[in-house]
Amino acid sequence: MSKLTELPQWKALTDHCHAISGQHMRDWFAADQDRFETFSLSACGIFLDYSKNRITGETMDRLFDLARAVDVEDWRGRMFAGEPVNTTEHRAVLHVALRNRANTPVMLDGEDIMPGVNDVLARMGTFADAVRDGTWTGATGKRITDVVNIGVGGSDLGPNMVVEALAPYVTNDIRFHFVSNVDSAHITRTLAPLSWETTLFVVCSKTFTTHDTMINAQTARAWFVDQGGREQDIAAHFAAATANVAEADAFGIPSANVFEFWDWVGGRFSLWSAVGVTIAIALGADGFVRLLTGAHAMDRHFAEAPLERNMPMILAMLRVWYTNFFGATSHALIPYAQNLSGFPEYFQQGEMESNGKQTDRDGHPVDYATAPITWGRVGADSQHSFFQRLHQGTSFVPADFIAAVQCEGSIAHHQDVLLANFIAQPEALMVGKTEARVRAELEQQGLDADALEALLPHKVFLGNRPSNSVLFERLDPETMGALIALYEHSIFVQGVVWNVNSFDQWGVELGKELAKRVLPEFTSAEPTTKHDGSTNGLINTIRKLRG
Ligand code: F6P
Repeated sequence: MSKLTELPQWKALTDHCHAISGQHMRDWFAADQDRFETFSLSACGIFLDYSKNRITGETMDRLFDLARAVDVEDWRGRMFAGEPVNTTEHRAVLHVALRNRANTPVMLDGEDIMPGVNDVLARMGTFADAVRDGTWTGATGKRITDVVNIGVGGSDLGPNMVVEALAPYVTNDIRFHFVSNVDSAHITRTLAPLSWETTLFVVCSKTFTTHDTMINAQTARAWFVDQGGREQDIAAHFAAATANVAEADAFGIPSANVFEFWDWVGGRFSLWSAVGVTIAIALGADGFVRLLTGAHAMDRHFAEAPLERNMPMILAMLRVWYTNFFGATSHALIPYAQNLSGFPEYFQQGEMESNGKQTDRDGHPVDYATAPITWGRVGADSQHSFFQRLHQGTSFVPADFIAAVQCEGSIAHHQDVLLANFIAQPEALMVGKTEARVRAELEQQGLDADALEALLPHKVFLGNRPSNSVLFERLDPETMGALIALYEHSIFVQGVVWNVNSFDQWGVELGKELAKRVLPEFTSAEPTTKHDGSTNGLINTIRKLRG
């Protein structure tokens, strides 16, 4: 048994889960008029209703007992203080410093890192605004009309999501493209309509060695030269965001266009760093700072609010509740906002690359579940794809419903219908439909007895399916910043409870290594015999099919 599952607080939660799992939320709402007020709160412009969860006051008390037992407040303090909480890589985790709008000193190894942070932010802002206002031109003096962000994982998903989410705040003078997949269809299709004279490439890679990104960057450069650009024109058309300045330099990007960040910024937490340069071009330097400001507000809330009124803590402990005590294996993120379509995928990486671990911080295998599968899609579309499973499948999937009350430029009637669905689905999941109600409805429709009995079981919804509703007035840069930071901190808290290092990703490395080994085998003189039978067979089949 691990230390975690041996804790009396863990055992108390196990007993408590047994005691209440047979109870229905419907009855709790009927018995307690204040349930909504008790289990809801606001922070940084975000309203969270978590009353439609399988919780009582005692549940939350016990969950916070567990959080305290694993020293969550201490770990939070250590992260903000720049201690090496990324233990396997011996690194601090300081993405919060990138959005430290209070500009208070953040010490790392005896040095304040804020001057460096501010310096890069200022350089990014100047560059972004110059591209936007046309002061920065391509080599032939034409304005930049297209920005192509080349990156993958954290160097793609964050900028991509934010530029789309904040579309009403994005300049209309420039089109934004994101190339991530090493499948050449992605870059070829993106570049086809573009002109080299008016295109700016932003190569984002923390390591500047990620194969996918480097191949795409090289293809972009080859396209650029092929279309008429000269080597000396690259300076006006390529920029980089990286923690490996030497490699960006070796690629041929002039240092004036290289925006640095540091090893204490995890890839999946990097949109606040130089990786956000495409966001800064889209929103302008001021807009980017607004994003940082919203995230900073959530950082302060996370650092200062008592556990019981702390939104990231609450979201995190609810995940732990369902994952470890109810056995839920997945969690859905369902934004009722088309512009937030990148949100589920962004936090798929955030949650699963951070906490998808089977070894605890002390190097022992865990004997409890970590990181449920994060997935989802925008509503109301997803109601017409996977919601049947959410309502009547054999197990429940906890879900977060996320919506803005108002949306810039939206048509009022559309927004009302969208919000009506945002409200109705969590209600349906919770309330369900009892046998008595279905029977009454079918009787009213005049069904004969046999037909009624045959149809009845199919129309019953058990309900009691939990969800959170996350609501804000509008999706502006500050709210977007706060929303992302909310989920980031929730990831951190879950990692602390599960005693895993949320900031490494060793599991991704093996596939990368093996891909490098496989690559030359497609063209080697002889069929390969170096792997297991299946892998050899697949490689040799590809060789054969290629003739
Ligand atoms: O896939 C693993 C990973 O290292 C992610 O953590 C990261 O976001 C992505 O690759 C891209 O890495 P880089 O920014 O170094 O190119």
